[in-house]
Amino acid sequence: MMGKGATASAPGRDTTTIEVTLPGRSYPIDIGEGLVATAGERIAATLPGARCAVVTDANVAALYLAPLKESLEARGLFLGDAVVAPGEASKSFPVLARLSETLLKLGVERGDAVIALGGGVIGDLAGFASSILRRGVRLVQIPTTLLAQVDSSVGGKTGIDTPQGKNLIGTFHQPNLVLADIATLSTLSEREFRAGYAEVMKYGLLGDAPFFSWLEKHWQQVFSGEGPERLKAIDTSVRAKAAIVEADEREESGARALLNLGHTFGHALEAYAGYSDRLLHGEAIAIGMNLAFDFSVAQGLCPPEDEARVERHLAKVGLPSKIADIPGKAPTPGQLLRLMAQDKKVQGGKLALVLVRGIGQAFVERDVPPDTITAFLKKECGAD
Ligand code: NAD
Ligand code: GLY
Repeated sequence: MMGKGATASAPGRDTTTIEVTLPGRSYPIDIGEGLVATAGERIAATLPGARCAVVTDANVAALYLAPLKESLEARGLFLGDAVVAPGEASKSFPVLARLSETLLKLGVERGDAVIALGGGVIGDLAGFASSILRRGVRLVQIPTTLLAQVDSSVGGKTGIDTPQGKNLIGTFHQPNLVLADIATLSTLSEREFRAGYAEVMKYGLLGDAPFFSWLEKHWQQVFSGEGPERLKAIDTSVRAKAAIVEADEREESGARALLNLGHTFGHALEAYAGYSDRLLHGEAIAIGMNLAFDFSVAQGLCPPEDEARVERHLAKVGLPSKIADIPGKAPTPGQLLRLMAQDKKVQGGKLALVLVRGIGQAFVERDVPPDTITAFLKKECGAD
């Protein structure tokens, strides 16, 4: 994956389009190769009259800003760009404030669009800025990490972090168009690709056991990118996410909460590790998903063989599965519990967890006794 260099080829024949159907807010997701270099054409056709300001990070700017800019300029659509520092720290109030002012200075008007070119950090930050700028302007997501292509660019969740926790400030603001150019994955590091793969696995684990079995057989081709498997894995993941978003756009009925499989544990671990290279978001989710399976087994809800399969697959692809896999000092159960209490699913002070009855059978448990979690975390943190 690394070192092949950025590509800005013409769109391949294999571009697929998935429609997210929502009342008054439907939008297409194009998945294929060469979509960055032809974005101007697609935007002109889908968002007539919209001029575009591009938000990206310094890493992605070096690779993909020039071909995107060229494509927008060819149609007279380019307003300017705003480049922020790479990393989770950019999902913050100070960066959001500076970015919002930059977008206003660039002259973004109501009918214009913000383009989020990058991974989930840029998608969440630029998505949030677009939702509050002039009380809401249009948004185009051009996700360039595997995680962003299969998860964060779809569904309209935007946000930033605060010292209290992750994504606690944000909005629902659906994009008007998503262009997932899978050629951009050729420049992603192995580690970032692997972290994004945790979210691909998630769709199998939460509701599609045959997809998980398929991943067990084909993960090597998904990683290598040779052959059609990578596109199939992304396509299947995006279809799963689109269907869940259509069923429960604002996470009210419970369907969308299933997308948080592994996230209550994962977000707490990520916060503990300081949102740093010590533990990437997708790696935290990998551990979190395995903990959700472990916890479900401990409650007699899930067959131990299913948990063993999940752990085996995580090990095969090189993802962490245990708290002990995080480099450095392990958190205490008390530290993790305090961080888990910031979860957005907490209601009336009660923690809710996404648990499983087996692979592909996730459900939301809204009444998890605190003592049970404490005992479980003591064991997992090696504190008993
Ligand atoms: P990221 O955006 O930080 O990207 C990871 C790294 O890869 C960065 O250093 C970036 O500069 C670099 N990069 C991006 N594309 C590249 C490319 N094509 N080639 C080379 N380098 C590239 O991280 P991420 O994993 O994409 O996203 C994580 C974020 O997504 C978290 O903040 C998480 O909360 C959020 N998220 C949001 C949702 C949602 O529904 N809104 C869902 C899942 C995750
Ligand atoms: N990634 C969780 C969601 O979109 O709901």
